[in-house]
Amino acid sequence: MDWLRTAEMLANRIAKNERKLGPWRRREHIHAYRVYDRDIPELPLVVEVFGQELHLGSFAFEDRLSDEESDARLECWSEAAARALGLDPEAAYAKRRRRQKGLAQYERVASESHGSEVVEGGLRFGINLSDYLDTGLFLDHRTTRMEVQRSASRQRVLNLFCYTGAFSVHAAGGGAASTTSVDLSRNYLTRAYENFERNGLLGPNHRFVQADVLSWLDGALERGERYDLVVCDPPTFSNSKRTESDFVVQRDHVALLAAVARVVAPGGRIYFSTNFRKFELDAALEPLIGRQEMTPDSIPADFRDRRIHRCWRIEQDLFLREILDKRDREIRAQFRPPERDERRRP
Ligand SMILES: C[S@@+](CC[C@H](N)C(=O)[O-])C[C@H]1O[C@@H](n2cnc3c(N)ncnc32)[C@H](O)[C@@H]1O
Repeated sequence: MDWLRTAEMLANRIAKNERKLGPWRRREHIHAYRVYDRDIPELPLVVEVFGQELHLGSFAFEDRLSDEESDARLECWSEAAARALGLDPEAAYAKRRRRQKGLAQYERVASESHGSEVVEGGLRFGINLSDYLDTGLFLDHRTTRMEVQRSASRQRVLNLFCYTGAFSVHAAGGGAASTTSVDLSRNYLTRAYENFERNGLLGPNHRFVQADVLSWLDGALERGERYDLVVCDPPTFSNSKRTESDFVVQRDHVALLAAVARVVAPGGRIYFSTNFRKFELDAALEPLIGRQEMTPDSIPADFRDRRIHRCWRIEQDLFLREILDKRDREIRAQFRPPERDERRRP
């Protein structure tokens, strides 16, 4: 198929999706959304709008094009997408996803940096469409972020694997008594701090902690810290020189939830989420929290891909530590890590 023909197909589909999403977007005041989600199998792209800007991510797919040709074709698609939305093609940023290892997915990909802002739920978020594969705001969690904003008033909020702190900003904007944002990456914590700053939310009750989540949770328990609302959205897999061992969500989610449960105050709530497509909630957890899965409600209307993540709203006092700890030891004895290509976040 020639590029111009596929560019036209893409533009038509984007224009159609935009017409469909328009009333919902205006009603909900949504400025950052996914307008194309691999709708056409021959065009494996994701197109997201951030205010007046556009972000295109293409997936690795089999063809005989050189890197230069692939980039030129992506440029052509990117222009078509911008025109279909009445946006300036210069404000469209296109990136090709290559196979990634570990934390490499989160590294810089271009030398020219272009940062801007987008509004979500009345709050401002810094985004970087030019030099990171991930924009700084994962749109699939918009609905859950809004729920956190609505329910955070006077709560002590803990955001684990906080990335650029979007959940924490929503919590603080919703009147949280305090927020604690934990991530391994100094760079992402800086962006979280900047997100608080751009909303005038900085203050002594909002802290940013660079640490490995599992080790930090042990310390928090010892220090007697307790939280009313915890967001826990770990990566599928991560390894770092800073941690004693790799993190593998399938293997480690029982240990993680057990550690989280220990720092949750009575009557508290945990949002637990994963993007690992092959994720299976551990058999010991299924009867305890299986019914608290909120996935269908947590996936926003602009996501055609209803398997983008799974999410649980866990609202019980988890006096389950012994069960969880025992189960964690059994899993570690048997576990096989996921294959590299199963780990990708779309
Ligand atoms: C999937 S993102 C989290 C997305 C975030 N919850 C959001 O919705 O914006 C994964 C984050 O986990 C961080 N991370 C990976 N391994 C970690 C670890 N062992 N301890 C703390 N943070 C870690 C990465 O730096 C990255 O920011």
